[in-house]
Amino acid sequence: QETHHHEFSVQEQSIMRLCKSHTIITVNGQFPGPTLEVRNGDAVIVKVTNKARYNVTIHWHGLRQMQNPWADGPEYVTQCPIMPGGSYTYKFIIQDQEGTLWWHAHSRWLRATVYGALVIRPKLGSSYPFPKPKLELPIVLGEWWIRDIISVQRQALFSGAAPNISDALTINGQPVIFTDALNKIKNISPNAGTVKYSVTSGDTVLLRVINAALNQQLFFTVANHRLTVVATDAVYTKPFTTTVIMVGPGQTTDVLLTADQRPGRYYMAARAYASARNAPFDNTTTTAILEYKSTTSRPILPPLPAYNDTNTVTAFTNQIKSPGKVDVPKNLDENLFFVVGFGFFNCSPGPRCQGPNNTRFAASMNNVSFVLPSSVSLLQAYTNKIPNVYTPDFPATPPVKFDYTGNVPRGLWQPVKGTKLYKLKFGSSVQIVLQDTSIFSTEDHPVHLHGYHFYVVGQGFGNFNPSQDTARFNLVDPPQRNTIDIPVGGWAAIRFIADNPGVWLMHCHIDTHLAWGFGMAFIVENGVGPSQTLLPPPADLPRSKWREAWRGG
Ligand code: C2O
Repeated sequence: QETHHHEFSVQEQSIMRLCKSHTIITVNGQFPGPTLEVRNGDAVIVKVTNKARYNVTIHWHGLRQMQNPWADGPEYVTQCPIMPGGSYTYKFIIQDQEGTLWWHAHSRWLRATVYGALVIRPKLGSSYPFPKPKLELPIVLGEWWIRDIISVQRQALFSGAAPNISDALTINGQPVIFTDALNKIKNISPNAGTVKYSVTSGDTVLLRVINAALNQQLFFTVANHRLTVVATDAVYTKPFTTTVIMVGPGQTTDVLLTADQRPGRYYMAARAYASARNAPFDNTTTTAILEYKSTTSRPILPPLPAYNDTNTVTAFTNQIKSPGKVDVPKNLDENLFFVVGFGFFNCSPGPRCQGPNNTRFAASMNNVSFVLPSSVSLLQAYTNKIPNVYTPDFPATPPVKFDYTGNVPRGLWQPVKGTKLYKLKFGSSVQIVLQDTSIFSTEDHPVHLHGYHFYVVGQGFGNFNPSQDTARFNLVDPPQRNTIDIPVGGWAAIRFIADNPGVWLMHCHIDTHLAWGFGMAFIVENGVGPSQTLLPPPADLPRSKWREAWRGG
């Protein structure tokens, strides 16, 4: 076991993109931020110093952080933010996880530019369950905004129904805009910083694809090459071959690519999968170049699915399976049904109420639009029994039942604001069915649960039908993930054992939706004995009651 020490300085940095200079928040002046490379079983110590003018926290997306939510990072959930001038040292151990994860700011929308890859290799002496690749490349997909991200966030919160979209998609921080129409592609920023990856003919390369975008689900493909999926969300999968993958915000997909084509140059490309009807989205395509050594030909462009190609997404998703039989919880202690989606608050006209007919756009789970506390974290409130911060009464089922994906009148589903948590006993076996709704619009939502990996036992379209759909669940070899796509106008069912005590956020990883209230948190109570109880909080945990003048909500 090795211990890795890192220093993260969160600081402003001026960088050139799309021929203009921008001041963005970075870690150590790098964009994307540093890649952490560790092995399963290693310890990681990262001292984060905040030299920027905003509060910040760092989240290690997908790491289980067993008994150690203190290092998880979402602001006001497991810690107060690190204030400007302050610092906090995240200390954690990688326990039984291998593959690709990533880290990102979990404070307002700072993760737009504050993110990086987290590569977890097998322990010394053990190996991948596939032939060792010659080369490993983190491919971090993201978005680029010309405007300042905090003003973009403000507009998304208060300006009614029109969400903001990014100005370009990025591969490893480089926005290379192509126009949308695939056969009339026009490169408007020729060679400007396009990332090139050099490979040798015949070599097999492991691409660790991470979707770090705030708001965009993404298709990814490489011209002329086949991709063999070997892991998702740092869990190995049964290998399968495809030409295109879809990665939701928060998710990772590891693919093997063999350089077995005619030596030359090939584009890898990403573009949006945008499932919501009539909602604007970033309609650009971004590329990087896969270049066989000493070739200079004109790069070949790959075809990409249409932005609304749900069939391709479904076909891809259905192929993701665990490598063999897994131990899925069968006797359920908790059978939860969470109805998610959009809605409208009634409010009095004003700058913070610009939705249709004196409403403000909202999102919710079981009709609760999630509000974070603002002076203390939920984890502190729970462990120190601080009253009036949250209520442990998040509903196990929706307050009203209706045809969720039918023609729903807006008035039927008016979200109420709340900081409601759901308590789970240590060791309980939990099923959650997440159901999309059609209020305003159906949409594919990537839902992330902190502190856990769960089995994805079923997914489908329309309303979940317990008797029929449960009978079709995959209880043999379902994949394990930390972020699951609820299919557009459909449902997803997950199962896990509540074996990690703490307070754990569950939310849509599309930041616009989280900002609108699409989130909740679980309290997982302590079990008995030292391996089932929370570790004590670190002495430097930010606990400040200092509050910024402006916060969302
Ligand atoms: Cu990747 Cu709550 O986050």
